[in-house]
Amino acid sequence: MRHFTSVRQLGELKEAFAKAKYAKENPFADQELGRNRTLLMLFFNSSLRTRLSTQKAAMNLGMNVIVLDVNQGAWKLETERGVVMDGDRPEHLLEAIPVMGCYCDVIGVRSFARFENREDDYTEKILEQFIRYSGKPVFSMEAATRHPLQTFADMITIEEYRKKERPKVVMTWAPHPKALPQAVPNSFAEGMNMMDCEFVITHPEGYELAPEFVGNAKVEYNQKKAFEGADFIYAKNWAAFAGDNYGKVLSMDRSWTVDSEKMALTDNAFFMHCLPVRRNMIVTDDVIESPQSIVIPEAANRVVSAQTVLKEILLSL
Ligand code: CP
Repeated sequence: MRHFTSVRQLGELKEAFAKAKYAKENPFADQELGRNRTLLMLFFNSSLRTRLSTQKAAMNLGMNVIVLDVNQGAWKLETERGVVMDGDRPEHLLEAIPVMGCYCDVIGVRSFARFENREDDYTEKILEQFIRYSGKPVFSMEAATRHPLQTFADMITIEEYRKKERPKVVMTWAPHPKALPQAVPNSFAEGMNMMDCEFVITHPEGYELAPEFVGNAKVEYNQKKAFEGADFIYAKNWAAFAGDNYGKVLSMDRSWTVDSEKMALTDNAFFMHCLPVRRNMIVTDDVIESPQSIVIPEAANRVVSAQTVLKEILLSL
């Protein structure tokens, strides 16, 4: 694996899960692999889990790590070609990327959807420029359309907690006061389409995701009906994708908040969320604090997913 931008690049899932299990049980077994190798982690957006778990994974592999927050201390970057740079952005991404490539062996990039132009977001304009101009392996730490390290951690968690051969996994939209990208739900849907499960997506009308991510999922507009018999509830907010509503908040309907009444419709389902989560908007206090909530082991698996992917990238150098 040279670049990692989608869980589709994990290859055969059984093998990927076996590699993840090995990383979890033997976190320091590959310290030599990363010796004298440098990871540059570049953030255009804020992060807690991705930042810490990816750095921890790199350190487990013996790597040196440089972290750069583009919006704090670096020159503001112009990203559009052809712009007369007479504004407040003194450096262009087209010089910055190859320069950064000179200082490291692997680059991780976090660059969210900007919601200015759907085509720019859905062609992954920023991430693709890193792949094209850095000369180094690049992996996504959440880009405009996908969050593959999160999804791989989610897949590992479901594999660890499932009690049935083919569990029912329900991804539910839930309300949020701000417009959030579709990267996590897109990516989760992509991952669930790869796993052997009954996958249902539930959301209010108008929140349909791009068909290429929905894949073979059943879309159910009645949230309570979707929850019936579920083994895993994966809650997430996202902004609208379709047409002129791209990037808009169409609803803050709190009847979509995940609460214990709805969880009672499931088959004692586990509750999952990628975090950070807005309590009593996305999920009630009692559900996230219940024994069925696995949000912390899910977050812990972020180290496992990052380490498994980073190891594959190091092996490709
Ligand atoms: N889930 C996740 O990616 O968390 P952060 O945004 O804190 O990195």
